[in-house]
Amino acid sequence: MKPVVRVAVIGGGAIAQRRHLPEYDANPGAQIAGVFDTDEKRARELCEQYGGHAYGSLEEIFEDGSVDAVSVCSPNVTHADASIRALRAGKHVLCEKPMALSLEESRRMLEAEKQSGKNLMLGHNQRLIRAHLKAHELLHQGAIGRLLFFQCNFKHSGPENWSIDAGNNTWFFKKDQANFGVMGDLGAHKIDLIRFLTDSEIKNVFTTMTTLDKRDETGEPIALEDNAVCLFNMENGLPGIMHFSWTNYGAEDNGSTIYGSKGVMKIFGDYADDIVLEMRDGTQVKYTVGSISTNQHQLKSGVIDEFIASIVEGRRPIVKGIDGHNTLAVIETAMMSARAGTWMDIEY
Ligand SMILES: NC(=O)c1ccc[n+]([C@@H]2O[C@H](COP(=O)([O-])OP(=O)(O)OC[C@H]3O[C@@H](n4cnc5c(N)ncnc54)[C@H](O)[C@@H]3O)[C@@H](O)[C@H]2O)c1
Repeated sequence: MKPVVRVAVIGGGAIAQRRHLPEYDANPGAQIAGVFDTDEKRARELCEQYGGHAYGSLEEIFEDGSVDAVSVCSPNVTHADASIRALRAGKHVLCEKPMALSLEESRRMLEAEKQSGKNLMLGHNQRLIRAHLKAHELLHQGAIGRLLFFQCNFKHSGPENWSIDAGNNTWFFKKDQANFGVMGDLGAHKIDLIRFLTDSEIKNVFTTMTTLDKRDETGEPIALEDNAVCLFNMENGLPGIMHFSWTNYGAEDNGSTIYGSKGVMKIFGDYADDIVLEMRDGTQVKYTVGSISTNQHQLKSGVIDEFIASIVEGRRPIVKGIDGHNTLAVIETAMMSARAGTWMDIEY
């Protein structure tokens, strides 16, 4: 019989309720051991729905010998502490993005991963989306020739509409809990994606960022950026641009365009076709391989299935601790670049 991985979920908010809990529930190799949330009522209600025990503290999870793994789905400020303690207690960890508040924290997480011998996976789900897997395959087959430039967008109406505790007092708007604004929230996804699509790390970055519209519960502009534009050069020489925004009050934009010597690849450039290749001779090739989640329309992420499979099969997951760390290094350097007003090399 297939071994069952018992998982405790830390933080029972939007991402736990929309992805982690239903996807563990649907995975025959996983069993939900329980939920810990500082909102005890929320944890109890989720356990009534999914089974398992409403844990009263993190210690209770770490001391529970029947728990094999944890999902860290609580605010960013908790990621490093919860992940490190879980790894030290011998649990596999699936930690949501951004990995941590600083590189100092993410380095300690990598060290704990190494010493524990357990898996540390990051919730960078974009590289598991079927269209992105197909795009990776096509790019490596040379479908659009030599890569010349990339442009990625991730723009929606903001996390105050997504969080389980919706509203302008959301933790996403608090520097001490989120540390990063839209860069850490949406930037993390596309930065990891371009690393995956091009099999290259980002070499340097120039960023401009601003707070255009978001207000906290007192009506004051938030202390974090709600828009960021980054120029990048990859280590393989490829340049590109990304725009991350929490002030797109129209349809969510999660598209990427890759320009090559033989044509252009548009991924989620429209909502009818997932990938369109516009070739230099005017022809078009369309691939429909599955759409992308939006805040309003959630699809299975594949992250949970990959996490469980990696544990059952005794291998490392597709999205590793180092992917979270290297993505965080780009985010941190991008923020420094915006403050300094100059290009900066990424120090991993
Ligand atoms: N991979 C993705 O696409 C994706 C999408 C959204 C959010 N996220 C990430 O997931 C994490 C959670 O975001 P969310 O959208 O679910 O937020 P949320 O506000 O909806 O939920 C956060 C939950 O954590 C609980 N909580 C707060 N402090 C806690 C603590 N110390 N210990 C345990 N629980 C605590 C809250 O009560 C709440 O239930 C964030 O790091 C976020 O960046 C990832």
